[in-house]
Amino acid sequence: MDAGEMRCDANPSSPTAPDPSCVVRAPIGLLAELTHRCPLQCPYCSNPLELEKVNVELSTEDWQKVMREAAQLGILQVHLSGGEPTARRDLEEIVKTAAEAGLYTNLITAAVLLKRERLEKLKECGLDHVQISIQDVDTQAENADRIAGYKGGSAKKKEVAGWVRELGMPLTINAPIHRHNIHSVEAIINYAVELGAGRVEIAHVQYYAWALKNRSSLMPTRDAFMAAARLVERKREELKGIIVIDAVVPDYYAKYPKPCMGGWGKGIINITPSGRVLPCHAAESITHLEFDNVRDKPLADIWLNGDAFQKYRGTSWMKEPCRTCPRREIDYGGCRCQAFALTGDAANTDPACSLSPLHEEWAKVADVESHQSPPAFVYRRPGGATPKPAAEKTPV
Ligand code: SF4
Ligand code: FES
Repeated sequence: MDAGEMRCDANPSSPTAPDPSCVVRAPIGLLAELTHRCPLQCPYCSNPLELEKVNVELSTEDWQKVMREAAQLGILQVHLSGGEPTARRDLEEIVKTAAEAGLYTNLITAAVLLKRERLEKLKECGLDHVQISIQDVDTQAENADRIAGYKGGSAKKKEVAGWVRELGMPLTINAPIHRHNIHSVEAIINYAVELGAGRVEIAHVQYYAWALKNRSSLMPTRDAFMAAARLVERKREELKGIIVIDAVVPDYYAKYPKPCMGGWGKGIINITPSGRVLPCHAAESITHLEFDNVRDKPLADIWLNGDAFQKYRGTSWMKEPCRTCPRREIDYGGCRCQAFALTGDAANTDPACSLSPLHEEWAKVADVESHQSPPAFVYRRPGGATPKPAAEKTPV
């Protein structure tokens, strides 16, 4: 085995017989969804449609235990996310424990709840990095606030971004891109530079959970996507050495799928507010999977031996055409959640792949929906997945 690799039987709490095929690397990152509470209502939210309630959330001590176990397992970075992680009053304690355990801490925030004193305190506790999501640029604040369903959000985000830089902390701007802001991609990149960000993510929406519910409203046309992709390439050249521009491509316009999560059970662990440990944020949508909870088992045991992680780890579970495809260890057959949602079997090839028999039919959906008049958003809110039409806000 190479350095950093472990066997599934490496954990003393799980004395299974040695399995020579079961060699696993330590995960690199932990996405800690501290809460599903959030003041924003973005219609592309990656949280599940059934949001977890505050009374099932892990306690401070539970999260502190998770941080220590994560560091012992070899995890390097923890992304403190949600929902809105600053809705947790104990965020400082969780950050402090994570930093003391040696983890690099990244706060993924909508920023609208933050006060300057709290940000200072978080920095003192060891917070390393802040990522702020935006919906559009400040000169399009009305559009940004409409998308987020939160008045005044755009201005507040700008203010918080200023504090982050004044405190000398590295800043990333994350901009989920869709039909209602794709015209602003160049302005968003320039805005991130103006805010002093070292990185900007032009993250085309991935259509799971709330975004799938709102797909017909959010899907940009292929032409708009292609123009945005060319623009990103031009800006990368223009801004080399000034800002890093990451781009996430929408599956519907790709020839091959993305290696979702970098491969199932390969590098990332996701923990929900109630402590369920998932191989990806949407894994609960695969209805036959069972998930362990950090309240019941050590994180290392779950990572190495948990059923949900083992199920689609590696390539042995694959069917044709993935099984014999030369790209199988490049993209790992794409996204398991998307394969399940669209074919009913998570072991099928992701229809985002042009080699999937369902690809053409599926890609047509984007073309049709992106040319229709966009329906009203189904805003992300508890119970919002089945809205009463009369109560919905009108998006355009
Ligand atoms: Fe990837 Fe499977 Fe498509 Fe090959 S057939 S490119 S492995 S998704
Ligand atoms: Fe779950 Fe892609 S979102 S594997």
